[in-house]
Amino acid sequence: MSSKLIAPSILAADFANLQRDIEMINKSEADWFHIDIMDGVFVPNISFGMPVLQAIAKHAKKTIDVHLMIIDPDRYIKTFADLGSNILTVHYEACTHLHRTLQAIKNEGMKAGVALNPHTNINVLEDTINNIDLVCLMSVNPGFGGQSFIENTYNKVKQLKDLIIRKGASTKIEIDGGVTDKNAKKLVEAGADVLVAGSHVFKSNDPHKTIIDLKRYANS
Ligand code: DX5
Ligand code: ZN
Repeated sequence: MSSKLIAPSILAADFANLQRDIEMINKSEADWFHIDIMDGVFVPNISFGMPVLQAIAKHAKKTIDVHLMIIDPDRYIKTFADLGSNILTVHYEACTHLHRTLQAIKNEGMKAGVALNPHTNINVLEDTINNIDLVCLMSVNPGFGGQSFIENTYNKVKQLKDLIIRKGASTKIEIDGGVTDKNAKKLVEAGADVLVAGSHVFKSNDPHKTIIDLKRYANS
């Protein structure tokens, strides 16, 4: 079994000490930087934009996993590639021509991800799963960190894993929202490959150790 990955979400970092928090992740057992971009339209919150991502990318020494919670993401695909994104995830609910969007992301040299809101059924990916590198299952309603995990996520992970196997795809499953040491192991058992964790890591007393523990739960 390949190693399960931990992706701390920078949304929960201390923005007045961003470089310190980035260096902590660089030195930790974390695998990816998860970067949430919110436009105040697709979701009822605005996070940060290009200058902040540029500053993060300057210091980050690990994969940069960008989660776009924005309408009309096609407009910015090249920009995010130029800024150093390695994985670009768009929301299914924000894409009229998802297949075209996935192609455009790959044409810019990035891995292509698709995020699904909690209300969106797995079966909408039936015809695109073989073109998707990463599915980000939202386990909270997108827009804010620090929310409670939605329990139905376990069923969705299993359904998605079944779809991936049935189609012979190599898509990774990422879980985003409310991930803690309480649900990490069960999520991995259901089929998850990547766990995003914001508050659980950055609001803990010792984020470095919290990442070690999460990684251990995920790979036990
Ligand atoms: C929510 C974001 C998440 C968020 C996770 O819209 O996509 O990545 O930062 O934060 P926690 O782990 O605090 O739920
Ligand atoms: Zn996210």
